Amino acid sequence: MLSIALTKGRLEKQSVAMFEECGYGIEQLKDKGRQLVFQDSIKDQRYFLVKAADCVTYVEHGVADVGFVGKDTLMEADGRYYELLDLGIGKCGFIVAGLPGKSPFEKLGHVKIGSKYPHVARDFFKKRNMDVEVIKIEGSVELAPILGLCDGIVDIMETGTTLRENGLVVYERICDISARVIVNRASFKLKQKEIMALLNDLTKVRDRHAETNGSK
Ligand code: PRP
Repeated sequence: MLSIALTKGRLEKQSVAMFEECGYGIEQLKDKGRQLVFQDSIKDQRYFLVKAADCVTYVEHGVADVGFVGKDTLMEADGRYYELLDLGIGKCGFIVAGLPGKSPFEKLGHVKIGSKYPHVARDFFKKRNMDVEVIKIEGSVELAPILGLCDGIVDIMETGTTLRENGLVVYERICDISARVIVNRASFKLKQKEIMALLNDLTKVRDRHAETNGSK
C-alpha cells in the first residue's frame, strides 16, 4: 500500500486531475466534502490532504511514502527526503515586489522585507550582499508594504493579479517554481517498484501535457 500526501488548495485540483489521467480510482477525491483520507478504488494506494509544510513532515516521518508539494515549500523547509519529479503543474515564481518607485534594492539604510518564506528571503538578499531585516508574515503579504511594515516582500506570484490589484510592482524574479514529487528515503528502498510505477505514470501525463501545450 502506498500512502500519498497531497497539498490542499491551489495544487489539489491539478494533482487530482493528473491521477485521473493516470487511470487511478480517485472518484472520492473529486467529490470529497470534508473528508481527508481517500482509498483508491483501483490501486493499492491511499491519499490524504494536508497543508504544504505538513506534506513534507508526513513524508519525512514515513507516514506518507510520497508527497506532492510546491518547490516554494521545499526551498523554505529544507528537509530529508528525495525530490524525484517535477510535475510541471502549479507553475509560478518567487519574486521581490514593493510599492512603485520605492525599490528595496535602492533604499539607503535599514531595509525591511516581509515574507511567508523568511529563509528564501534571507538567502536571496545574502547572495546579493544586502543586509536586510526579514519579517515573517503568515499571509496576505501584499498588505505589509502598503501599511508600512516593510519596504518590500518576497512572495510567490502566479498570475500577478494580487500584486496588481494592490498596486505593487515586481522588482525582481528570483526563480521559477512548480510542484514536485518527494519520496520518503526508506520507502524508496522498500517500495521501489510501486514508487517507480507511480513516477512513470505521472511522467507520461506530464509529458503529454507539455506536448499539448507546446503545440497550441
Ligand atoms: C499566494 C501569494 C500571493 C498570491 C499570488 O497567496 O502569497 O498572495 O498567491 O497569486 P497571483 O499572482 O495569482 O495573484 P495564497 O493564495 O496562497 O494565500 P495566502 O496569502 O493567504 O497565503
